[in-house]
Amino acid sequence: MTDEPRDIRREVERRRTFAIISHPDAGKTTLTEKLLLFGGALREAGAVRARRAARHATSDWLELEKQRGISVSSSVMHFEHNGFRVNILDTPGHQDFSEDTYRTLAAADSAVMLIDAAKGVEAQTRKLFEVCRLRKLPIFTFVNKLDREGRDPLDLMAEIEDLLGIDTVPVSWPVGQGKDFRGVYDRLRERLLLFAGGDHGTKLLEQEEIVGAADSPEVLAALGSRGDSIAESLELLDTAGAEFDREFVLAGEQTPMFFGSALTNFGVLPFLECFLDLAPEPGALPSDAGPIEPTEHGFSGFVFKIQANMDPDHRDRIAFMRVCSGRFERDQQAVHVRTGKKLRLSNSTLLMAKERETVDTAYPGDVIGLFDPGIFRIGDTLSLDGSFSFAGIPSFSPEHFVRVEVAEVMKRKALEKGLDQLAQEGAVQLFREPGSGSAAPILGAVGPLQFDVLKHRLLSEYKVDLRLSALPYTAARWFKSEFDPEIFRYSDATRLIEDREGRPVLLLRSNWYLDRILEKNPELEFSETGG
Ligand code: G4P
Repeated sequence: MTDEPRDIRREVERRRTFAIISHPDAGKTTLTEKLLLFGGALREAGAVRARRAARHATSDWLELEKQRGISVSSSVMHFEHNGFRVNILDTPGHQDFSEDTYRTLAAADSAVMLIDAAKGVEAQTRKLFEVCRLRKLPIFTFVNKLDREGRDPLDLMAEIEDLLGIDTVPVSWPVGQGKDFRGVYDRLRERLLLFAGGDHGTKLLEQEEIVGAADSPEVLAALGSRGDSIAESLELLDTAGAEFDREFVLAGEQTPMFFGSALTNFGVLPFLECFLDLAPEPGALPSDAGPIEPTEHGFSGFVFKIQANMDPDHRDRIAFMRVCSGRFERDQQAVHVRTGKKLRLSNSTLLMAKERETVDTAYPGDVIGLFDPGIFRIGDTLSLDGSFSFAGIPSFSPEHFVRVEVAEVMKRKALEKGLDQLAQEGAVQLFREPGSGSAAPILGAVGPLQFDVLKHRLLSEYKVDLRLSALPYTAARWFKSEFDPEIFRYSDATRLIEDREGRPVLLLRSNWYLDRILEKNPELEFSETGG
């Protein structure tokens, strides 16, 4: 017992838990593979993809996933590097499932924003960045595909600053681009790293290190004819650019930038090592009893994701829980705070793609999968003494809405049960017309494929065949102020409904109407998120 807090502190300090945010095709899968390769968690590149393929072969409700060539589900990967324990929270590749990504970001301590050097900031990057900002997550930027002709690094920095409103500080600077990409200069550690050719990045790569300031004779000699222009760019950054400040990075006001090529492995290791040094360890999280420090409380955690039927041989539900304080031990009793029930947490697994391994101990920052007998909801707190609840995970505004019709009246009960269960998992958001009881449900989703998954699952798991008819709304806003329902009575551009908790929600045909409503009724206040 005596050295327990010290033991937990040591484990907290060496943990780094993050998610990668990017637009599809920027190279998230490739980068993840290379990181796992360095961590020794994979022996060959291509394994993440191969595992995805293997999972396709064995899952059946994810048949849909296979048909459409998308990844609906996600998992958590972990590895050790230089004494750090690294947890990567994988997020779905398809943007229709970005609600899942939003929730996963609630369990991360930082995010890596991956950008394609030729494309810059894309639509999905922007959306996910806004969610990170809401959570004040520190963001590290990796500019990928430097092995191809892309945009000028200074131009990319300006675009990030203009579009996202965050300061950029290049920590590494590319030496050449496209076929000419030879290495990076590490500005923080004052060293030049030149890469030897790789075997398409499948092996650990050799890199030559020349320590010295950018204008030192050693570095200039190694750079050869390129030396002067690189030294000039770096001098420009030193004089005109923002200065690196870890405090600003941790506050989410400055993003350190790295350049590389995940495909050829160039620049990935220097990025990983610098990231592990600079990224935050698991910190205090807000609760209804104030911030919960990871080392000052016994075990606690919250559920940020529920995944059903990942494996048709098991037909079970797994709740993904982030450990927030203390030490998790298998078989310990914990209080499920929302219901006050005591649970024995005996069925805990670590999820690495499809494989599951039993976890006996876990520390703050780690994510474990708990067998869910149907009681968990997104945002639920579990803790030793049940004395507080974590702040919860907000629902984000859906962008697509449908009304549900069930073909056979007899199936109403099954429909209700199914919708309730799936909304509890976060598969869709469930709304109702005010005063309608359980009749006339309205569903909301960030991406329309969520509805396809829902229909598929209701049919295969609850034997209910649904008809969905699209509603013409594109946004939802939760009320933050008192309001007079009469305001919205005669408008067909808006509709007043309720969420699952009975909170009033306004549906809008477009944001344009929101501006008009606010102009006419300046006393109204809305939130883009509920909860
Ligand atoms: P995602 O998970 O973000 O959607 O991206 P993914 O890693 O699947 O990469 C998308 C495409 O970009 C892949 O090509 C991948 O090989 C390529 N790519 C990733 N990183 C780099 C890089 O650093 N440089 C270059 N030149 N390409 C990169 P694909 O042709 O769509 O797939 P594949 O046939 O290579 O598997």
